[in-house]
Amino acid sequence: MPGIPLSVLITGANRGLGLELVRQMAEGPSPIRHLLACCRDPDGPNSQALQDLAKRHPEVVTVIPLDVTDLGSILRCSQWVGSLVGAGGLNLLINNAAILTKDTMQTASPQDMLAAFNTNALGPFNLTKTLLPHLRTAAAASETAAMSCSKAAVINIGSFMSSINRTSQGYGSQPAFSYRVSKAALHMLTVCAARDFRQSEILFAVLHPGWVKSAMGGERAVMEASESARRLIHVMFSLTEEQNGAFLNNEGAPLPW
Ligand SMILES: NC(=O)c1ccc[n+]([C@@H]2O[C@H](COP(=O)([O-])OP(=O)(O)OC[C@H]3O[C@@H](n4cnc5c(N)ncnc54)[C@H](OP(=O)(O)O)[C@@H]3O)[C@@H](O)[C@H]2O)c1
Repeated sequence: MPGIPLSVLITGANRGLGLELVRQMAEGPSPIRHLLACCRDPDGPNSQALQDLAKRHPEVVTVIPLDVTDLGSILRCSQWVGSLVGAGGLNLLINNAAILTKDTMQTASPQDMLAAFNTNALGPFNLTKTLLPHLRTAAAASETAAMSCSKAAVINIGSFMSSINRTSQGYGSQPAFSYRVSKAALHMLTVCAARDFRQSEILFAVLHPGWVKSAMGGERAVMEASESARRLIHVMFSLTEEQNGAFLNNEGAPLPW
C-alpha cells in the first residue's frame, strides 16, 4: 500500500469507530510512530478503554483532550501535536467525532441545528485549519511526490445518509435531519478543500464507514466497528491523487454525492 503514515490524529477516539481505528493502527503491522488519540474527556468513564489501549502502547498512542466545538481546546491540541510530531509534521488527520439526533425538519430546533453543525462541520473546519501548519510540514518533509496518507491527508468521516441523491430512499425511516444537513456541509467542505490544497499536496476525501454497531449506529447495524475500521484503514492507506476530493464507501468505491 502506498500510503502508510508515520503520524495520525483521530478525533472521537474514545469509543465506537474512533477507538477501533486507534486499536487497529496501534496493533497492526504498519510502522505508525505517533497515534494521537483525541477525546473530550480523557479521564472520564467513557475513555477507560482508550486509556487501557494507550497503556499497552505507550510508545505509540498519546491521548489528547479535544472538544472539536471549542477553539481553545483545538489550539491547545495543536500545540501538543507540534511538540510530538516535530519536523516530521502530521501525515494524517481523521475527523471522526460527530453527533446524531433523531430529528426531522419539524422537530429540530435551531439549537439542534447549531449543535450538529458545530460538531460535524465547523469542528472539522476549525481543526483542519489549525493543524494545517503540521500537515504542510509533513507534505514538505515527504520524499514522495504523489499525494497519499503517508504524505499529508485529511479524511473526513462522512455518511451515505448525507448523499443528496439517495436521501429520498432512507429519510422516512431514519430522518436525522440536523445530522444529514451538517454532514452534507462536511462533504462540500471536503470537495472545496481538495481544490484549495491540491497545490500544497494535501489529499482530502470523505469516507462512509457503513452502518456500524456503535452508540450512533445502534445494535441493528450490519457491521461491527472492528470490520468497518479494518476496511477504512485499507481504503485510507490505498488512496492516491486520483481520489483527491472523492466520496468513497468502506471498500473504496465511489458514492453519489
Ligand atoms: N455508526 C454508523 O453506522 C455510522 C454511519 C455513517 C457514518 N458514521 C460516522 O462515523 C463516525 C464515528 O461514529 P460512531 O458510530 O463511532 O459514533 P459514536 O459511537 O456515537 O462515537 C462518536 C464519537 O464522537 C465523539 N464526539 C462527539 N462530540 C464531540 C465533540 N464535541 N468533541 C470531540 N469528540 C466528540 C464522542 O465522544 P464522547 O464519548 O465524548 O461523546 C465519540 O467518541 C462519525 O463521524 C459518524 O457520523 C457512523
